Amino acid sequence: MEYINKVSGKTKVIALIGNPIQHSISPQLHNIINQKLGVDLIYVPFKVNKSELANAVKGLKALNVLGFNITVPYKKEVMKYIDDNIRETFLLGAINTVKNIEGRFYGYNTDGEGFLRSFKEEQGHGFKGKNVLIMGAGGVARPIAVKIALEGAKKISIVNRTVTKAVEIAEVINDNIKNIATAYSFLDETFEKVFRESEIVINTTSVGMYPDVFESPLINVDYFGEGQIVYDVIYNPSKTKFLSDAENKGCKIINGFGMLFYQAIFAYEIWTGIKLNEDFIKEIFEEFLLLTSKIC
Ligand code: ATR
Repeated sequence: MEYINKVSGKTKVIALIGNPIQHSISPQLHNIINQKLGVDLIYVPFKVNKSELANAVKGLKALNVLGFNITVPYKKEVMKYIDDNIRETFLLGAINTVKNIEGRFYGYNTDGEGFLRSFKEEQGHGFKGKNVLIMGAGGVARPIAVKIALEGAKKISIVNRTVTKAVEIAEVINDNIKNIATAYSFLDETFEKVFRESEIVINTTSVGMYPDVFESPLINVDYFGEGQIVYDVIYNPSKTKFLSDAENKGCKIINGFGMLFYQAIFAYEIWTGIKLNEDFIKEIFEEFLLLTSKIC
């Protein structure tokens, strides 16, 4: 709150819109960066009802904000209210970042890039030649799946409760990048085999997220195999049941904290044009990790 005293008539504003919003830790992260760099910018959250989304975007333009983030459940819907979405976002199917350039709103997606960076940081390699299973086909699955395909994965399997949504993502990849994606339902007989054969398994479903911390998208923990890399995009709790089960079976586990962090870093660079140096990024990462460990 000390930050508030520094807000002046010249301070520029970045907004966050979504619903719910009160759980978000993005405001802390962005405002820590602003404070540390001495940038005269403030990041503020707004809970927006679905029927008010168009008006909210119009209002942000009228207020001439520098930009904004979009979180669930509007990452897809908001695209139609933006002046121009950068080309890649059509493939990614959603935007999470908007920049105001001379009164026009441009949409970007930093989720996929944030995911890739966090995976490489933790794992030391990317997805080239890998056999990958993605669980879930909601808002966050598509940018991740598309980025993994663009990175040169050998095979991508997408499993979802609503199989038509998995088919949609598989088709986007097969039609626009390479014919490497297949859709499954959790009930398919082949699901167990597909799971066991995957070198990397990524949970993008919301199952296991606080407060439902005893739930997991995978019922049979015997599917996990030693040495498998298991990633959960959830960061609260920091170790979901899914990750805990995987760890007990000898898998290498990664949570969604890094993705949250790096998508924010990339968005910050888009808004401000500042290229953050690696030492600074590491310093902020440690500080933010400490802060979230008290919350999550
Ligand atoms: P949206 O579809 O609105 O983008 P999301 O929160 O981004 O929603 O995605 C939620 C993901 O978690 C979806 O893959 C969803 O499966 P459905 O597409 O079948 O809804 C998945 N999910 C949520 N609750 C689930 C549950 N209880 N069991 C299995 N999957 C679940």
